[in-house]
Amino acid sequence: MKAEEFSRRREQLMSMVGSDGIVILPAAPIRRRSRDVEYRYRQDSDFYYLTGFAEPDSVAVLLPGTRGGRFVLFCRERNKDKELWDGSRAGQEGATEEYGADDAFPVDDIDDILPGLIEPCSRVYYTMGMYTDFDARIGEWINSLRSGGSRGVHTPHEFVALDHLLHDMRLFKSRAEISTMRRSAKVAVKAHERAMAVTRPGLYEYEVEAEFCHEFRRNNAWISYSPIVGSGKNTCTLHYVENNCRLADGDLLLIDAGCELDYYASDITRTLPVNGHFSAAQRAVYEIVLEAQLAAIELTRSGRHWNEPHDAAVRVITRGLKKLGLLEGSLKRLIDDAAYQQFFMHRTGHWLGMDVHDVGDYKVGDQWRLLEPGMVTTVEPGLYIAAASNIPSRFHNIGVRIEDDVLVTSGDPDVLSKGLVKEPDAIEALMAG
Ligand code: GLY
Ligand code: MN
Ligand code: MN
Repeated sequence: MKAEEFSRRREQLMSMVGSDGIVILPAAPIRRRSRDVEYRYRQDSDFYYLTGFAEPDSVAVLLPGTRGGRFVLFCRERNKDKELWDGSRAGQEGATEEYGADDAFPVDDIDDILPGLIEPCSRVYYTMGMYTDFDARIGEWINSLRSGGSRGVHTPHEFVALDHLLHDMRLFKSRAEISTMRRSAKVAVKAHERAMAVTRPGLYEYEVEAEFCHEFRRNNAWISYSPIVGSGKNTCTLHYVENNCRLADGDLLLIDAGCELDYYASDITRTLPVNGHFSAAQRAVYEIVLEAQLAAIELTRSGRHWNEPHDAAVRVITRGLKKLGLLEGSLKRLIDDAAYQQFFMHRTGHWLGMDVHDVGDYKVGDQWRLLEPGMVTTVEPGLYIAAASNIPSRFHNIGVRIEDDVLVTSGDPDVLSKGLVKEPDAIEALMAG
């Protein structure tokens, strides 16, 4: 992502905040995994969205009321010894020269500097409740201003939820973001193709998962969430991530895996027959989910409400469940009573972007939001038929989900993950090699 993209975002945010506000964003904290081992550091999405700065121990401040709207970055100082162990730091010079900060200060000096930047402002734009340690520090800085009140020091009179503004910006993807998301989807498509090519009875689910790790890392990407690689009855556990069972001949394998590339996520699901051939019952269920997914994608269009693709999927799925003999009654009644939820218990999609379940409101007031160009959503209906005495055994343990990443445009839906086969015959052909 080019520096101008980050600078444009800061300008856009500052123009919404107005001249009497200050924006404060902390970097993500470093998190401990176990004992003295840390998780690999990943910058906070909001922070990165506005700065492109990936280092921890940083605080970004935007001052729309100063001339030109200043961007101040507090970050770690250069330190030869520490950099020898942990890698290079931008330092204050790098912050201004490479990241477009108008001013940069050592983060250790923030207590002395930030209250003075807050003082002339009436409103503080900050996301409360995200990082509680930082919430407390904001409180301390405001208190330090209050205690100076008798000497004529001014204190802001309003806190405003920054995420409201910022998350609406993040919901609409720019050209640069769309091109990154397309690349992220492409890498995930390649990984799914590898997985389809190796899948066969006797393999373990984690061996299939390994194909994703390999393909992601060789493209400088990481998993964007724990991959779900579930076979047999595990296809019916929505958040199955143990991935430690052996693939059995005749079972289905549901794989939900995507990557994060340059801070943008893909999120793709495919379901395949372990032995390379769908049984008649598996194919019948699969075709219903595929029809539901295509119907939902068809409605992922500018001017449609957020809920319309889901409603379309529900309709196809309920009709299909009737046809399979798993539900009985009038279609309208079954939909009104949400009878399908026994087999399709999640929603058809979610926003996708820097986070897998990306930010952005789904409703405006009590109305489902209208889809607009630049929004990206997943479309992922499913059917999960667990073994039960009242279900014919040929349907037992058939869990199917098909998930693609779809960009809303001014024209047709643009499926970012379209390179990956999903017709049952095409899956069988790919698995046959
Ligand atoms: N992989 C998470 C989801 O599909 O929502
Ligand atoms: Mn998803
Ligand atoms: Mn998914």
